[in-house]
Amino acid sequence: MLKYKELKLALEEFLLEDFPHAEGDEIEAIVTHWLQTPSKKVPFLTASMHEYCVSRVQSLLAESEEERFLIKQPVPAYRFSLPIEWTNIPFPPVQHPSFTFIDLFAGIGGFRIAMQEQGGKCVFSSEWDPHAQKTYEANFGEVPYGDIRKINEKEIPDHDILCAGFPCQPFSLAGVSARNALHTAHGFACETQGTLFFDIVRIVKEKRPRVLFLENVKNLVGHDEGKTFSVIRNTIESIGYSFSYKVIDASPLVPQKRVRCYMVCLRDGKGPFDFPVISGPPIPLRTILEKEVDDSYTISAKLWQGHKRRTKNNLARGTGFTAFCADLDKPANTLVARYGKDGKECLIPQKSKTPRMLTPRECARLQGFPESFIIAPGKTTAYRQFGNSVAVPVIRLIAEEIATHLRQNKKERTKK
Ligand SMILES: C[S@@+](CC[C@H](N)C(=O)[O-])C[C@H]1O[C@@H](n2cnc3c(N)ncnc32)[C@H](O)[C@@H]1O
Repeated sequence: MLKYKELKLALEEFLLEDFPHAEGDEIEAIVTHWLQTPSKKVPFLTASMHEYCVSRVQSLLAESEEERFLIKQPVPAYRFSLPIEWTNIPFPPVQHPSFTFIDLFAGIGGFRIAMQEQGGKCVFSSEWDPHAQKTYEANFGEVPYGDIRKINEKEIPDHDILCAGFPCQPFSLAGVSARNALHTAHGFACETQGTLFFDIVRIVKEKRPRVLFLENVKNLVGHDEGKTFSVIRNTIESIGYSFSYKVIDASPLVPQKRVRCYMVCLRDGKGPFDFPVISGPPIPLRTILEKEVDDSYTISAKLWQGHKRRTKNNLARGTGFTAFCADLDKPANTLVARYGKDGKECLIPQKSKTPRMLTPRECARLQGFPESFIIAPGKTTAYRQFGNSVAVPVIRLIAEEIATHLRQNKKERTKK
């Protein structure tokens, strides 16, 4: 078997040497996407680059004595995977996929974990944040492509499901009030972030996936008196999809109040989609706490005093932030990207000490990530990534329903 990291480095080196015109920034994305799906349908991979990768892999395989027999199979025969050892990659590609999907605004891959569990094969991912790209690669053995606005939709491989937790800052309550205070645009009027929904639309128009699976903050539904949501619904319906949505609180599945809007859109009048019922008592925060936590997570007495003073003043004024120690018998408040700044959303009480912040592993658990998930090395980075991410168990249950829908449809089509 060839080792993922060595193979990646070798191909990257060869390609950069012989194809200096190759999209420099995207070379890691090209190589790692090709390793997951060794075909010509990798964005920005030319036919000659593909041939080159094939011959390189064959000669590397030939060098490895025990793998000599594998050479008998031409590389394209490994349509879904090369003989790669995904050492230390916890979520390698699915071997015999039953459907394909793409992961847009991929973050650290919350959607991908759930879709792979259902037998899905990711054929394209995009995420422009370099730190999130690193975490994504560490877990899935693939570097996502960068800015989606710069990717021609024709380059994206065909797929059954399009997944996208598109950026929510322009629609989130905090984002809207901060933007109002600064007199800057929010919603679709926010040029850098607000229009990314239309990048999804241009991809859908070209690729016509069977299902769209979208996620955003709950405020999307009421934003701008419902006008933003109407635009989203009408646009999706106008391109031939049904539009179903549900606002779901994740707290029966993870110990966190996380209320989000999930949208599932089905092509060719196959809707409406039946969302799974997610109910039950909320999970207490204490169930995911680590036993031994380093003192570096304890907040300073000065910061704690500051939190208490501001809480008192803000309560009196009836506005502004409040910070309390968390009730361990209840779910935590919503984890947000800025949690690492001062931890005010969730502080864990400690005996004879000021409270402490959650550890990154605890944040991973709050979002329902498996224990094998590799967390980013820096604390602030890890907090931001989990704050931006999805609650995996909610995505998992919806993904199960979507996979069932695809299977039923397939049966119907084969009957006809
Ligand atoms: C709400 S987060 C989605 C997180 C993801 N669902 C997860 O499970 O981690 C949105 C992501 O979109 C990324 N993003 C924003 N604008 C982008 C763009 N133009 N191209 C690619 N990624 C972008 C952000 O860096 C962020 O990680």
